[in-house]
Amino acid sequence: SGPIGLMGAMESEVELIQSYLVDAHPIEGPCPLVGGRLDGTDVLLAQCGVGKVNAALAASALAQNGASCIIFTGVAGAAGPDLDIGDVVVGNRFVQHDADGTAFDDPIGVVPGEPRSWQPDERLHTVLMGCAARVFDARRRVVSGTIASGDQFIGDPAKVRWIHDTFGALAVEMEGAALAQAASHLHVPFAVVRVLSDRADGTAVTDFPAFLAQAARHDRDLARAVVAEL
Ligand code: ADE
Repeated sequence: SGPIGLMGAMESEVELIQSYLVDAHPIEGPCPLVGGRLDGTDVLLAQCGVGKVNAALAASALAQNGASCIIFTGVAGAAGPDLDIGDVVVGNRFVQHDADGTAFDDPIGVVPGEPRSWQPDERLHTVLMGCAARVFDARRRVVSGTIASGDQFIGDPAKVRWIHDTFGALAVEMEGAALAQAASHLHVPFAVVRVLSDRADGTAVTDFPAFLAQAARHDRDLARAVVAEL
């Protein structure tokens, strides 16, 4: 089977992982893409950029280059009322909160012709839950739940409450459900883990940059833990 596909949205989220790659070599593609070995395991690392289209493009590029699976690591806004910054959500269901085909009687959040939601590969999800529990210290919660994606940085308490109430989402971000849709079409198993960087309310913009450096270290530790287990 092929290399493990690793994906992150922003440079700050993949550069630390990249610094651990041995025999790193750039690969032509729609986004920065490097092949190499992480602790002896063949990986392909994609810096997909922000948003759903970029996530789908990167998933396609990883699949074309033979990735056996795709693991997305990154940050998200907290959408569950009991969750806080630093907690971890491993996606067990993915929806696109900005999809609206209600004019054609499709339920809100459903892309016409697509399923109501997507599920990750069961084994990858289980591996991510185990790795996250080990990588993050015991004060953090590691939960499995719905991740809602859309091409919007959510910074409004009413909006994030709507996303939680409508979809049961515990985390809101901008790529996971697009990777889910693309991976389903590409027949590539995938899973997503997100560290909560902000509350997706008015305070998100100040919390967010401060959190990224720390999150990058967690992404690196998670990626290393995952490739050691797969
Ligand atoms: N990623 C991290 N925080 C986010 C937020 N509040 N909205 C969307 N994506 C995010």
